[in-house]
Amino acid sequence: MNIKDLYIKFFKEHGHQEIPSAPVIPENDPSVLFNTAGMQPLVPYLMGAEHPCGKRLVNAQKCIRTNDLDEVGDTTHHTFFEMLGNWSLGDYFKKESLSWSFEFLTEILNIPVERLAVTVFAGNKLVGEDQESIKIWKDLGIKTEKIAKTADDNFWIAGNSGPCGPDSEIFYWRSDEEVPKTFDPEDVRWVEIWNNVFMQYYKDENGKITDLPQKNVDTGMGLERICAVLENVNDNYASSIWKDVIDKISKIANLPYEGNEKSMRIIADHIRTAVFIAADNSHIKPSNTDQGYILRRLIRRAIRHAKKLNIDINSNWEEQIALLIIDKYKKYYKELETNKQIVLDVLKQEKNKFSKTLEKGLKEFEKITAKLDGNLINATLAFKLYDTYGFPIELTQELALEKNLEVDLEGFKEKFKAHQELSRANSKEKFKGGLASTGEVETKYHTATHLLNAALKKVIGKDVHQMGSNITKERMRFDFSCDHKLTDSEKEQVEDLVNKWISEDLKVEVKQMSKEEALKSGAECMFIEKYPDIVTVYYIGDVSKELCGGPHVSHTNQLGKFRIKKEEASSAGVRRIKAILIDN
Ligand code: SER
Repeated sequence: MNIKDLYIKFFKEHGHQEIPSAPVIPENDPSVLFNTAGMQPLVPYLMGAEHPCGKRLVNAQKCIRTNDLDEVGDTTHHTFFEMLGNWSLGDYFKKESLSWSFEFLTEILNIPVERLAVTVFAGNKLVGEDQESIKIWKDLGIKTEKIAKTADDNFWIAGNSGPCGPDSEIFYWRSDEEVPKTFDPEDVRWVEIWNNVFMQYYKDENGKITDLPQKNVDTGMGLERICAVLENVNDNYASSIWKDVIDKISKIANLPYEGNEKSMRIIADHIRTAVFIAADNSHIKPSNTDQGYILRRLIRRAIRHAKKLNIDINSNWEEQIALLIIDKYKKYYKELETNKQIVLDVLKQEKNKFSKTLEKGLKEFEKITAKLDGNLINATLAFKLYDTYGFPIELTQELALEKNLEVDLEGFKEKFKAHQELSRANSKEKFKGGLASTGEVETKYHTATHLLNAALKKVIGKDVHQMGSNITKERMRFDFSCDHKLTDSEKEQVEDLVNKWISEDLKVEVKQMSKEEALKSGAECMFIEKYPDIVTVYYIGDVSKELCGGPHVSHTNQLGKFRIKKEEASSAGVRRIKAILIDN
């Protein structure tokens, strides 16, 4: 049995229910482009909402972290990874959590205790030292010298605000040298493999810390890393997770891995992540904004490195790699199979688009850099490469770095702005990957989204379905299937109906039931495969019922006045409404 299956089995045996991985693109959380940790989709439940699968959960979550996208190419970085996680939602706490982690590592994965060490929270002005965890570790057999206390690294929070708490990290001695007597967390031969977070606090946007209504546990173990560690390879891409993909690339390029590691790792990682993004049911396409821009960067960087390896770009190399990845993962993530054709089309179309200009762009780059005075590539060239040849700026930076040159990034940004192409994805906030809390305003918009969905069905027809939703503090955006531009009268009717329901002060209620029962009852649902067997259905009076994780307001009169600001085409057969709520 592989590590993932062993992990799920172990925690199921300890009373956990397995929940499916949430999509890689978060729903109703505009503050992040991708899910970056298993806890992210669980925030409402860590904050106290009742989870339909109970208080003990386990899963493998598809995660994407793009902060280090350009670091990919070395032995450790990847943009996509699977996070093995188990959670207690106000159920067990430190003792069970640490004991089970220890048991899994030493008895299921058979790691010798001597090779393990841990860090615990040393305490700060707000929260005290985690003496309880120290005692538990000692009782389990971890020697005092192998327990290090740190303050900064042992308090976990996603982003700036949200559920948080002290954590205890478990490290593994990854070296053939003798295990030192004393644990030094700064020694890189000690590799962090698992994090147990004791989420009992909430940090608000002003940094104030309060108790959550319940004490939770959130743990996370990166599958790629634990595999590499246990297989005793010093290059993650040499582990069994990657071996077949690297072999495939090596075969396509007719080159050995040795000596071509960087490009092969980049192709392997970027195509895998692109496959998972394109297969997500939110149907992201390569573009110049948001997730679409990341998808574009991944595919274009992979293409450039395929070219470096002299792979014939116009052959079906990317399809061969994608098919291998789909095959490997489809058992766990069904959307890869369902959306296989979409994935292959996305890769191929983006490749066709870029391959036309890549060659010329590279020539232009060579020409200009050959006669460069100094080592700075000016903004005009960087912008030309972007605008005319489709080079993401990061790609130009990478090319420059290979020649020990720099790019005038500030100048590029100014030009970029001047062309009014600076999308909201460019806002630094988004790229930081922080997780914002679902605040009061977002919660209102979330409920208004359900009302809008129901109103559209009444006014336009039953065939209207939600195709996407995005909420910020300022507005809601709702994509829905519809074959025509809404008339003024239709817009007015939709608006009036939503406002009528708001003024009726309908009660928002939540019920749990089996997935079949929910579907039979006609509850709305966007991505059915994402939901576990037991689901949460939100009712608004008798006008709306939708499968949803919440959170929502309790009565519709809390919403204020609903106004449609814009109705426009989103893509073929999909319309988009932007609307706001105005306080009364
Ligand atoms: N959320 C924690 C982390 O990402 C534990 O999963 O490290």
